[in-house]
Amino acid sequence: MTAQTFDHPFFARIWTVMSAHESGVMKKMRTENLAGLSGRVLEVGAGTGTNFAFYPDTVTEVVALEPETRLAPLAREAAAAAPVPVTVIESTIETMPAAEPFDAVVCSLVLCSVDDPDGVLHQLNSVLKPGGELRYFEHVATEGWRGGLQRLADATIWPRMAGNCHTHRDTERAIAGAGFTIGTARRAATFPAWVPLPVQEVALGRAVKGG
Ligand SMILES: C[S@@+](CC[C@H](N)C(=O)[O-])C[C@H]1O[C@@H](n2cnc3c(N)ncnc32)[C@H](O)[C@@H]1O
Repeated sequence: MTAQTFDHPFFARIWTVMSAHESGVMKKMRTENLAGLSGRVLEVGAGTGTNFAFYPDTVTEVVALEPETRLAPLAREAAAAAPVPVTVIESTIETMPAAEPFDAVVCSLVLCSVDDPDGVLHQLNSVLKPGGELRYFEHVATEGWRGGLQRLADATIWPRMAGNCHTHRDTERAIAGAGFTIGTARRAATFPAWVPLPVQEVALGRAVKGG
């Protein structure tokens, strides 16, 4: 299968700036999401490679997929400075080349952007070794006024501006629906509650491959 890539110049420019100026809160969440990982890891949609610096040295190899043609070279630069070996492949998860099973899969801020989250989560389940773990750090659907804002954003300009990001997804339900068993999980805020953005609440968790 030919690797699928994307070319969203506006999103790539915005994400390059945003990922270079992340808050301490975001960095702590990235560290938490990767803590205790070991062995071979698949990272889906690595962006500029912001996670790479936070992998513990018990990880022996990271295979990082990044389909956005302007972000993959930045991820490669971050890979060269990472504390663990990272190989960046320019591909979507749906078209990734065949690989040996992984000990863990990392998804951060990416399940909002894939076209078919249920299908992708089943695929992620299938590329894990028995007992393998999905680590996720994903913004999620919220109740109340922000939920309304999310629906409006998703139906209008947000996905077009933000690389197909959909803000009102019940990602943890999709994770469980794909056969994962969610272990530890928590919700957190990336911005103060009054900030009028559709993305604010995130789910951070660990889920184990199911049968
Ligand atoms: C908001 S960025 C997050 C980047 C990175 N995961 C992080 O935490 O900083 C979403 C990323 O997912 C990538 N992406 C979107 N659809 C994808 C797909 N189908 N397969 C793999 N990556 C995808 C985008 O190119 C983008 O780099």
